[in-house]
Amino acid sequence: MTPDTFDLVVRNAVVITATEEMRCDIGVRAGRIVALAETLGPGQREIDASDRWVLPGGVDAHCHLDQPLPPPARMADGFESGTRSAACGGTTTVIPFAAQAKGQSLRDAVADYHARANGKALVDYAFHLIVSDPTPTVLNEELPALIAEGYTSFKVYMTYDDLKLDDGQILDVLEVARRHGAMAMVHAENSECIEWLTRRLEASGRTAPRYHAHSRPMLVEREATHRAISLSQLADVPILIVHVSGRDAIEQIRWSRARGMTVYAETCPQYLFLTADDLGSDDDYQGAKCVCSPPPRDKANQQVVWDGLVDGLFTVFSSDHAPFRYDAPEGKQPGGEQVPFAYIPNGIPGLETRLPLLFSAGVLDGRISPQRFVELTATAPARAYGLFPRKGTIAIGSDADLVIWDRFAVGDERTIHNHDLHHAVDYTPYEGQRVRGWPAITLSRGEVVWDGRQPQGLAGRGQFLACGLPCLAPRPR
Ligand code: URP
Ligand code: ZN
Ligand code: ZN
Repeated sequence: MTPDTFDLVVRNAVVITATEEMRCDIGVRAGRIVALAETLGPGQREIDASDRWVLPGGVDAHCHLDQPLPPPARMADGFESGTRSAACGGTTTVIPFAAQAKGQSLRDAVADYHARANGKALVDYAFHLIVSDPTPTVLNEELPALIAEGYTSFKVYMTYDDLKLDDGQILDVLEVARRHGAMAMVHAENSECIEWLTRRLEASGRTAPRYHAHSRPMLVEREATHRAISLSQLADVPILIVHVSGRDAIEQIRWSRARGMTVYAETCPQYLFLTADDLGSDDDYQGAKCVCSPPPRDKANQQVVWDGLVDGLFTVFSSDHAPFRYDAPEGKQPGGEQVPFAYIPNGIPGLETRLPLLFSAGVLDGRISPQRFVELTATAPARAYGLFPRKGTIAIGSDADLVIWDRFAVGDERTIHNHDLHHAVDYTPYEGQRVRGWPAITLSRGEVVWDGRQPQGLAGRGQFLACGLPCLAPRPR
């Protein structure tokens, strides 16, 4: 072995970043990209990309893994199955949530979450925080210290009894974000409207899963989105509105941008590939498989979300993977019962299917460029949460997190089946959907973690990532 031999060379790659396409070899040493050139010398290991597209590994900046929940609910995926599933779908960094329970110190929540993750992950991971109890100690001591230690983003909820904050509490948290340059993520739905609608639906016997969507119409998201924007303006700090579902919330974000505010936005596969019809009919409980919040809307709203992905309204595209088994007492049938919609755990799986769905319907069907795909799924999330340029791009010095993509011709599509996925959930909401692309090989820090047939590598090889401060452009397009 000569001293300038690479640990790995990926040959004949068509490298796609958020801004470029270049045909080159990729040289890797000690898990990092150290050379990009037309022809590189030998590697101890070589992979021939055969002129296929090589993209940065996905950064899934919104997923829930082994998040503690009030019993009987329990998430199907912890760090082992969740990150395995991520790797097989081309995602090499995940950012789930260390959630503070009311009354719990934020420090304890973080320590507990590390214990859940330690030794289990197949790919690298960072943590967002969920602040549900912003006491003076949390605001003045714990949060500033945790930001300095690499937990630089936190989510606040405007709904869910066990998590929600009132407007004054949200302002307090936003003020900490402003003072320390952290990123505040907002779940924007009006809690009281949801409760009022839920009571009315229950009183009239409309309790099937499909009524979940009726209890959370777009106006409850619109109102809360507008309020969140107003709070961000008052606190004079950017926010990122998560899981934006359709036209009403999008209009509020466009309104804020037109007035010069810095409001970032995230959307998810369920708002492109599912509709409220997937929540079933009155006598059909299977719709519980698609109960998530905000709920999927209709075809017209899918198009509005696509428009936002095309024109730059959306900053990031995440899965919001919130994994519950369907046929399980800790999942969608609490205690073994088919329950009224208000008691069905909210959330659907999507870590493994996030990238193939968008790659197929977005890039290969011609809606977005491959560069925009990389921006939405890897580069922008890495920037938003302080992981760039270590993650989210293909550049000298970056981690060698790479995905070689297979593209299938029209007529030769692959059909999504849950039995082919690697999460621990017993269904996928995308069962039967056809896709025209899938990762052929996923590399994490230069190691193969998905070879196109099987996950590879040992659980525990994934490393915790301390995040820097967000570095997104202050004026979204
Ligand atoms: O229904 C959803 N989205 N569940 C996950 C939790 C959240 O609010 O993101
Ligand atoms: Zn949420
Ligand atoms: Zn979520």
